Amino acid sequence: MIWADNLGVTYPDGTPALHGVTLRITPGEFVFLVGPSGAGKTTLLKLLLGILRPTEGSLTVGGLDMKHPAGAGLRNLRRRVGAVFQDFRLIKGRTALENVALGLWVLDLPGAVIRERSAAALEAVGLGAKSQVRLETLSWGEQQRVALARALARQPALILADEPTGNLDQGAAALVMELLLALQQKGTTVLVATHALALVRDLGRRVLTLQEGRLVQDTAR
Ligand SMILES: Nc1ncnc2c1ncn2[C@@H]1O[C@H](COP(=O)(O)OP(=O)(O)O)[C@@H](O)[C@H]1O
Ligand SMILES: [Mg+2]
Repeated sequence: MIWADNLGVTYPDGTPALHGVTLRITPGEFVFLVGPSGAGKTTLLKLLLGILRPTEGSLTVGGLDMKHPAGAGLRNLRRRVGAVFQDFRLIKGRTALENVALGLWVLDLPGAVIRERSAAALEAVGLGAKSQVRLETLSWGEQQRVALARALARQPALILADEPTGNLDQGAAALVMELLLALQQKGTTVLVATHALALVRDLGRRVLTLQEGRLVQDTAR
């Protein structure tokens, strides 16, 4: 699913963010990405989503060369990815349900399927009762769960989540982790960047540790 070989990236302003990262993630794996702030976690997720291009080494995601991805290939890949980033890109003035549904229009599904899947995803993240509530009246933690519901509703092959439990209380964080683990049970590949180290240890999954842009530990090795 994901293959990085000596992957590195330097931002246009000259900031080196990743260097010499070699790893392989096979379909259906559940992997945590940890490391201190500034270690390069978000940068790696952006490379995987094709928001950023590698400047060193190589990266393939779902068979697509992320160094020189064709536009059609990238669009196709993004249809198969559910991304939960910190800037949620949710839309104010729209309801929770509309925000989730907006993530599905690109998949060319019938309207009824979109509504059904969106409602089910909101239910799954515990926001079933708030589906008709406008985004800006939801708390930050609830908005975060709307973003997760939007990713879940797409039924993606790959989930990329950047600190999906940040700012959530313990109960809500545990729910998010349960949902991600349940997705893996259904065959989804899941990569989660997180600070919640206690949670990571308890779950006993593969952990990639980044430090100053380098992969310093991979528990699968
Ligand atoms: N858009 C950007 N332009 C320049 N430098 C950036 C940009 N985004 C992140 N960085 C730098 O890249 C490094 C890795 O950042 P990031 O991937 O956000 O780390 P993390 O998510 O682990 O906190 C940091 O030194 C950060 O300052
Ligand atoms: Mg980050």
